Amino acid sequence: MASLTQTMEAESTVNRQLVRWVEEVARMCKPEGVHWCNGSQAEYQGMLQLMTLAGTAIPVNPEKRPNSILVRSNPADVARVEDCTFICSRSQEDAGPTNHWEDPAKMKAKLTGYYTGCMAGRTMFVIPYSMGPIGSPIAKIGVEITDSPYVVANMHIMSRVGIQVLDALGEDGEFVRGLHSVGAPLGSNEQDSTWPCNAEHKYICHFPETREIWSYGSGYGGNALLGKKCHALRIASVQARDEGWMAEHMLIVKVISPAGQVKYMTGAFPSACGKTNLAMLIPTIPGWKVETVGDDIAWMKFGSDGRLYAINPEYGFFGVAPGTSMKSNANAMLTVTKNSIFTNCAMTPDGDVWWEGMTDDKPGELMDWLRRPWTPGSGRKAAHPNARFTTPASQCPVIAPEWQDPKGVPIDAILFGGRRAGVLPLVTEAFNWEHGTFLGATASSETTAAAAGKVGQLRRDPMAMLPFCGYNMGDYFAHWLKMGAKSEPSKLPKIYYVNWFRQDERGRFLWPGYGENSRVLKWIFERCEGKVGAKDTAIGRVPEPAHLDTRGLDLPAANLAKLLGVDVEGWLAEVPLIKQHFAQFGSHLPEAMNRELEGLAKRLRSAKN
Ligand code: GTP
Ligand code: SPV
Ligand code: MN
Repeated sequence: MASLTQTMEAESTVNRQLVRWVEEVARMCKPEGVHWCNGSQAEYQGMLQLMTLAGTAIPVNPEKRPNSILVRSNPADVARVEDCTFICSRSQEDAGPTNHWEDPAKMKAKLTGYYTGCMAGRTMFVIPYSMGPIGSPIAKIGVEITDSPYVVANMHIMSRVGIQVLDALGEDGEFVRGLHSVGAPLGSNEQDSTWPCNAEHKYICHFPETREIWSYGSGYGGNALLGKKCHALRIASVQARDEGWMAEHMLIVKVISPAGQVKYMTGAFPSACGKTNLAMLIPTIPGWKVETVGDDIAWMKFGSDGRLYAINPEYGFFGVAPGTSMKSNANAMLTVTKNSIFTNCAMTPDGDVWWEGMTDDKPGELMDWLRRPWTPGSGRKAAHPNARFTTPASQCPVIAPEWQDPKGVPIDAILFGGRRAGVLPLVTEAFNWEHGTFLGATASSETTAAAAGKVGQLRRDPMAMLPFCGYNMGDYFAHWLKMGAKSEPSKLPKIYYVNWFRQDERGRFLWPGYGENSRVLKWIFERCEGKVGAKDTAIGRVPEPAHLDTRGLDLPAANLAKLLGVDVEGWLAEVPLIKQHFAQFGSHLPEAMNRELEGLAKRLRSAKN
């Protein structure tokens, strides 16, 4: 422990609880050494070197993308593992029907077995980080202990890491404790693998009452970068419930009209359903502009003026690579031109990265994400469908100047959405906050490669929080209703449901999406100003074709009619499915949700007649 004490003596402040916890973890995990992260450039470069030496990373050609690396993981470790994710609250009822649960003492006893000696032959890194601008009243501090240099490098980009965090924490400040190990102890003469992980045992465990995270066996994304989903969503959602704020799986976007007026919107879409793209979109309608505040997580609190303010607790983007191109998301492409980590992408012969959808023409040859030679005729994907880039938010060409404002930005509209091939229209406006909560609570989407398991399975994903809510989802709906009652209705954000993924009979997207989504943002913007019309329907307020700005859009009128129409039969078929979805929450389901469902069913029946 000499190295630990020495490093700590050099620090300006020492948090007693932190030092004690680090010592405890070191005794259990038995690393070769302990490294306290200071967040410096030199430290970041050191991590890249460690990964390069170990064969985990190869440098991307610096003439193509300076200071960037490509990392290939193990095929057994490519996405979040929802089946191995647990909420270990004292009572199972608190975890609710949508989370896996285990008794906290039992889980800790079991995992202590796995953690004992699990860092043998490795360095244990201690990462003090802040989610949100350091010192912001909405920000929170966490410390992640990990044995993965990949995690350290990613945390440097995704959160604010370093000495300033320890200073802000002070001698007795509170912090979220995140323990992470790849679960691959090294024997004394053992050659390390290029992506150490534990192929058999993975556990992503949350102890909401004690604000702890224990993650074992995976080194990938949300399983391992504990500031992100584990802290900023699962633990934070519980803190938000207790303290009266909101921790949501939402992008934050700033929309600027030709007249220079500004509105901020958040959007909750499930994983790989378009948050990064909407946050950075380039409007196709003349005069409109969009700037980015956040692309994945929003923490929201009411200000003294009664409006809801949001901060982006993150510092970078961990974005889906496939499908990202100069055509679909130029701003993301321009963000990843340097200082980025690419994971599970393919490599071109000249040492640049590539993924499906990046260019119109596929390269003639590549090294695929499994390090095998690849040609267009190979019949397989060159990049993994959940290949990702990690990149500093500050590099985004359209990052909003106020993206780090400690007080956050006032939210005018909240969007819910998901991938639905049928039934759900392009956009629906909620009648009010309670109806909006119902729209969020019944959101559904087809599964994507962001989580291990089958892709394309339709499931309910309330508020895009199904994998991320740290407590009983029924109570979470009640929390939404409670938040809505905190302010005057006129000051609350208006709520919308959008669906960019409607398909025709042949499986082609009916809506062009991406930059064209600005047409929907414009309608929402003008609805917030009371400047444009909408039609009241059984499911909510929907634009008539004339309300939507479709100038210059090459879209057959029949398609638009389908996108904006209310499929009464399809909706009537949803009603029993929603009933079934709600039934699982038993007494935790707020009565208002049943009331909304009955109202919907009644309106649909009269629309049919
Ligand atoms: P997470 O980081 O997993 O939370 O995902 P995300 O919600 O930020 O999703 P992202 O914006 O990265 O989009 C995921 C995939 O959906 C990408 O392949 C995009 O190209 C595609 N996509 C995004 N927006 C649209 C759209 O408007 N229409 C269509 N058809 N595809 C889209
Ligand atoms: C998601 O799955 O919603 C992500 C990626 O944003 S991960 O950080 O891996 O959870
Ligand atoms: Mn996400």
